[in-house]
Amino acid sequence: MLSCCTSSNSCDDSDTRKKTLKPVQFQRLSLSEVSDPSSPICVDDLSTSLLGSNLHVFTLPELRLITHNFGRCNLLGEGGFGPVYKGFVDDKLRPGLKAQPVAVKALDLDGLQGHREWLAEIIFLGQLRHPHLVKLIGYCYEEKNRLLVYEYLPRGSLENQLFRRYSTMLPWSTRMKIALGAAKGLAFLHEADKPVIYRDFKSSNILLDSDYNCKLSDFGLAKDGPEGGETHVTTRVMGTQGYAAPEYIMTGHLTTMSDVYSFGVVLLELLTGKRSMDNTRPSREQSLVEWARPLLRDPKRLDRVIDRRLEGQLSNSGAQKVAALAYKCLSHHQKPRPTMGDVVKVLESVQGFDDEFVEPFVYVVPSETDDSKEFLAKKDNKDRDCGHG
Ligand SMILES: Nc1ncnc2c1ncn2[C@@H]1O[C@H](COP(=O)(O)OP(=O)(O)OP(=O)(O)O)[C@@H](O)[C@H]1O
Ligand SMILES: [Mg+2]
Repeated sequence: MLSCCTSSNSCDDSDTRKKTLKPVQFQRLSLSEVSDPSSPICVDDLSTSLLGSNLHVFTLPELRLITHNFGRCNLLGEGGFGPVYKGFVDDKLRPGLKAQPVAVKALDLDGLQGHREWLAEIIFLGQLRHPHLVKLIGYCYEEKNRLLVYEYLPRGSLENQLFRRYSTMLPWSTRMKIALGAAKGLAFLHEADKPVIYRDFKSSNILLDSDYNCKLSDFGLAKDGPEGGETHVTTRVMGTQGYAAPEYIMTGHLTTMSDVYSFGVVLLELLTGKRSMDNTRPSREQSLVEWARPLLRDPKRLDRVIDRRLEGQLSNSGAQKVAALAYKCLSHHQKPRPTMGDVVKVLESVQGFDDEFVEPFVYVVPSETDDSKEFLAKKDNKDRDCGHG
């Protein structure tokens, strides 16, 4: 936790400002440097200490205003950190901040996560910028309140797109585009000067823009990789059931290869259209990896695994390539797993099957006599309830 200020003891300008640590150029500050009790960095200084981050510091009333008072109609979803609301900032709010929709994540003060996850998000996303990482725009730190403000991704999470009952079926080429983007995001983290282990790679943490470009979100559990010749970092086992690598669960030893395993699980979800864990499936199929992995190696049994809705969209060779890749990522031992750089190369070779992707299009014929007017009237009422014009 941060040493020089707490929520009740906010920093005094005169003394602590002088101590603001100026990071060496291009040297990313690690989470431990900031969390160290002897660190001179103060939470109020984060936006300046994280050189070049351009993070904006928002007040709670400002965030209330842009989210319709954290209104029910603005709620996008809720995870372990707390609820996420859609908001809209206009270009008058801050110099240099353009008008745009945003997602505001608020820490649930009664929840299991807290200041550490909030801080990790700022330390990592404030300093790491990549087309496949979600952009952190700013944060709020007032008394006990901890909030994060991100760019808004209109298609929400891959989990919603892939598994929600009434969502559009994702075609094969889109699934492979998402897999490649996510692999590039992870490769960027692993190949950084100071490598980062993401630790919570799963379909709900992959967000999608309107063109299905994907961005990794949620750096609350991310860890700096091993340093000084160490092979791993040892941590409390955290993450999500169904995605965590077996050696990490058994020993708490965390490496970039743990992320590769989790990537294999998501690749399997994309291939099968099935969730990594599902208690409603027959008992031997509840764990997707245990059920599907043995089938991935056998071309004759591969069609038992592949999402039926993809029929006719993928070639045998493409399917086999991706299945073999997932198989390797899901190796029980770390050694046979590929690096994320290798994964990117394989996925690049299966891109570009231009299957037709047409969104379902519903056209309501305007008529004075049918029910459409009633439907539109109901919709208008809902929009009004939610304050959208
Ligand atoms: N930047 C964003 N743009 C659009 N929607 C978002 C954004 N961030 C989060 N969401 C939505 O909010 C939901 C909750 O996200 P959050 O990351 O808090 O929880 P989660 O990933 O579902 O669970 P967990 O806490 O286990 O990671 C997401 O599923 C997504 O639909
Ligand atoms: Mg998440």
